[in-house]
Amino acid sequence: MRLLFVGDVVGSLGRKMVSDYLPRLKKKYHPQLTIVNGENAAAGRGITEKIYKGFLQDGVDIVTMGNHTWDNKAIFEFIQDAKKMVRPANFPEGTAGQGMVFVKINTEEIAIINLQARSFMVDLDDPFRKADQLIAEARARTPFIFVDFHGETTSEKQAMGWYLDGRVSAVVGTHTHVQTNDSRILPKGTAYMTDVGMTGPYDGILGMKKEPVMEKFLTALPQRFEVIESGRSLLSACVIDLDKHGLAQKIEAVQISDDRPFRE
Ligand SMILES: [Fe+2]
Ligand SMILES: [Fe+2]
Repeated sequence: MRLLFVGDVVGSLGRKMVSDYLPRLKKKYHPQLTIVNGENAAAGRGITEKIYKGFLQDGVDIVTMGNHTWDNKAIFEFIQDAKKMVRPANFPEGTAGQGMVFVKINTEEIAIINLQARSFMVDLDDPFRKADQLIAEARARTPFIFVDFHGETTSEKQAMGWYLDGRVSAVVGTHTHVQTNDSRILPKGTAYMTDVGMTGPYDGILGMKKEPVMEKFLTALPQRFEVIESGRSLLSACVIDLDKHGLAQKIEAVQISDDRPFRE
């Protein structure tokens, strides 16, 4: 089984990269499942129903989320019906939406789990214990399990990778918006990458206009950050191959930008 995972799609430039390049990526890699992190898809803040449906029309199978899930209040009107959306599973019991979904691929099934880290982030339920619980549930049905671990610190993400090694197919990080050069297969067969990186504006700071961010560091005063909506853009992704036992054989980082042009 081959998976394509595209990291944090930021604003209109990120969405355009998905619609422009997804057909070409699919032609090149032939993934059976395409997952996109959409927590920043609506001008950097959350997602709308229109954007969610647009992703599905573009050929995305599952949309994962993160700490920005709730930024766009309209989410509460459609998340309950958004069967292809996964938000962090370790929000408190009773939170709208779902933290794990199952997708059928031919005769197999794969579980997609989204978890959010806690270091330098909101204090959610323990993502490690939550992972144990969800994996037990998933493994009763399938050994194919993909985890998008949405977190700030490398150490917490590495800890999750090692903690889940051999129990899930892949632990891939999102949230930092910068692709890490550490994709690997852990010893017990889990594909790991600290952060898959961002899909969106290339010439900003994590997708935002540079000036207010620099100003914040220079003055220590609060600033209003704005997403970049024009100019150059990049796409960050990874491709993961799984064997019939749900363990990883290969993980390959993918990046497309002016500096790393796409090759068919
Ligand atoms: Fe993000
Ligand atoms: Fe995030």
